[in-house]
Amino acid sequence: MTAAYSIEELRLAAQRRLPRALYDFFDGGAEDEVTLQANRSAFQAVRFRPQVLRDVSEVNTQTQLFGRSIALPMATAPTGALGYGYPGADVAIAKAAAAAGIPYILSSTATASIERIANAVQGRLWFQPYTLKNRDFFWGLIRRALAADCEALVITVDLPVGGKRERDHRNHFAVPFRFTPHNLWDFARKPPWCWRMLRQPFPVMENLIGLAQQQTSASALASSVGRNYDTAFDWDMLKQVRDVWPKPLVLKGILHPADAQRACAIGCDALVVSNHGGRQLDGAVATLEALPDVLTAVNRRIPVWVDGGVRRGQDVVKALALGAQGVLVGRAMVFGTMAAGEAGAHRALAILQDELIRTMQLCGVARLADIDADLLMPVAKTAG
Ligand SMILES: Cc1cc2nc3c(=O)[nH]c(=O)nc-3n(C[C@H](O)[C@H](O)[C@H](O)COP(=O)(O)O)c2cc1C
Repeated sequence: MTAAYSIEELRLAAQRRLPRALYDFFDGGAEDEVTLQANRSAFQAVRFRPQVLRDVSEVNTQTQLFGRSIALPMATAPTGALGYGYPGADVAIAKAAAAAGIPYILSSTATASIERIANAVQGRLWFQPYTLKNRDFFWGLIRRALAADCEALVITVDLPVGGKRERDHRNHFAVPFRFTPHNLWDFARKPPWCWRMLRQPFPVMENLIGLAQQQTSASALASSVGRNYDTAFDWDMLKQVRDVWPKPLVLKGILHPADAQRACAIGCDALVVSNHGGRQLDGAVATLEALPDVLTAVNRRIPVWVDGGVRRGQDVVKALALGAQGVLVGRAMVFGTMAAGEAGAHRALAILQDELIRTMQLCGVARLADIDADLLMPVAKTAG
């Protein structure tokens, strides 16, 4: 894995190893993938204007969140269904996050349960319960998160319905796999993946066992997940979550400043400016572009994080320079893990950490607190 020097190389390795349908599921976005690309372009449009001859011999990347320090201004984003690409992927990412000293956010559609992660990994565990029509089940997830001592709850609010991911349709891919003549060839062409998957029980969305009528059937369970999102979930419901959850509450999927203000008024403890990595509403604004108005609305009341398109350590510095307190890392972790399991997850974070420190040194900043807008060239002045 040390042969991979960038997240892009990990992406290519993941692409080589995975059946196409799975790779496309992890890599792809909704419809024309305009928002997916816009997230990356927004980072690339920002340029540094570094200052030189400053002492950067000691770089400190620590930041504070919810009264505790974290080693890097990052957390791993919640990502569902990873076990279909690499068995044990969720535990692998949780271990890598713990080793790097950053929070791990477990998705409710992950292929490992809250309890499994809490038992297997001594790290900082946050949980993301999807807002499900079955309210009893939803509240049950929250109770389980509390019982497992999760540090924070992350409510993702940007998918009352699933986005239209056309790569998945073209590949005849759905969770669960439906073996058709089309995709059978796709899977058969990757014998190492087949071998790895067939050596153990097929992964299940463990947090959601009991949601489907046929509780023990992986397929019934998984196919019911999308249909079970609660399109009626609203601010009143969020307020009820706030009332029962005694620990930090994070709202993920905010793009509009009015929503940011409402989240502060309800008592959320942090926001993540996110468009779900371009996987839901195509045509949504790039997250880096949405960030400034959200920050103005929040007016420093609570921390604002951002995700979408983080592939380099320099992206983290750019997000911080624009006012975010940290970033969530989604596909970068997925690619690393799909490329090489736990070693790949560690490698992805090591690459981002190394690039973050290097970028800070090259920019002449030794502490995160010294990263601000002055480090950036206003986009309009940047030569094409
Ligand atoms: C394969 C995959 C699965 C995801 N599953 C979830 C999920 O279960 N819950 C959630 O809130 N976000 C989910 N996301 C969105 C991520 O949490 C995050 O917002 C996004 O990946 C950030 O963009 P990036 O991948 O460009 O870093 C998923 C993203 C991917 C790529």
